[in-house]
Amino acid sequence: MPALINPSILSADFANLERDLHAISTADAAHVDVMDYHFVPNLTLGLPVFERLVEVSPVPVDGHLMIADPDRWAPAYAEAGAASVTFHAEAAQAPVRLARELRRLGARAGVALRPATPVEPYLDLLAEIDMILVMTVEPGFGGQSFIDGTLPKIRRARAAISEQDLDVHIQVDGGVSRDTIERAADAGANVFVAGSAVYGADDVPAEIETLRDLASRHVH
Ligand code: DX5
Ligand code: ZN
Repeated sequence: MPALINPSILSADFANLERDLHAISTADAAHVDVMDYHFVPNLTLGLPVFERLVEVSPVPVDGHLMIADPDRWAPAYAEAGAASVTFHAEAAQAPVRLARELRRLGARAGVALRPATPVEPYLDLLAEIDMILVMTVEPGFGGQSFIDGTLPKIRRARAAISEQDLDVHIQVDGGVSRDTIERAADAGANVFVAGSAVYGADDVPAEIETLRDLASRHVH
């Protein structure tokens, strides 16, 4: 399985998002964080901006919705053309219904788990989704430090996916850098979101390549 690097534009220049999307044209996807001041104590962007980002992005868009009531709001992000739409387990009323709707609209469906949210309730439902996003920080802000206590959850999720012989990705998001990416990959993650590590680098394409190389040695 290849290691996929999805830089988060949360650490880009919000006045130059098109330019900063082009800066990551060698990445596998652009991770776009939608925050609503309700599910998390931060506000980023909503559907009109998201739709334009999908139109101008040189790479597929990976939407991460940190919003309340995703059952109501998430399908429009799939309709906007996102390659994947990930909603939070803690916010969804009917996650399987929502995941089916996102897939019907042509997006890959992801379920995100805050650090203290267990993966176990989802292990029998893996066939209904395309990705589990294990948050490796509390969602809401870039630049936080990686929580190592999330690694056992990644291991358990990967073991269940392998056991069921499914093609479900495990994405990690938060504090992913040269210092942490190898242990996340070793635990079983194969999609890596990095915001500050990529956009804070002097040479953005080189940083993407470095992260991909480090992760690739450990993805299994
Ligand atoms: C945080 C967001 C992340 C954020 C990661 O809630 O979901 O995508 O951009 O930023 P870093 O990589 O700086 O921890
Ligand atoms: Zn994110």
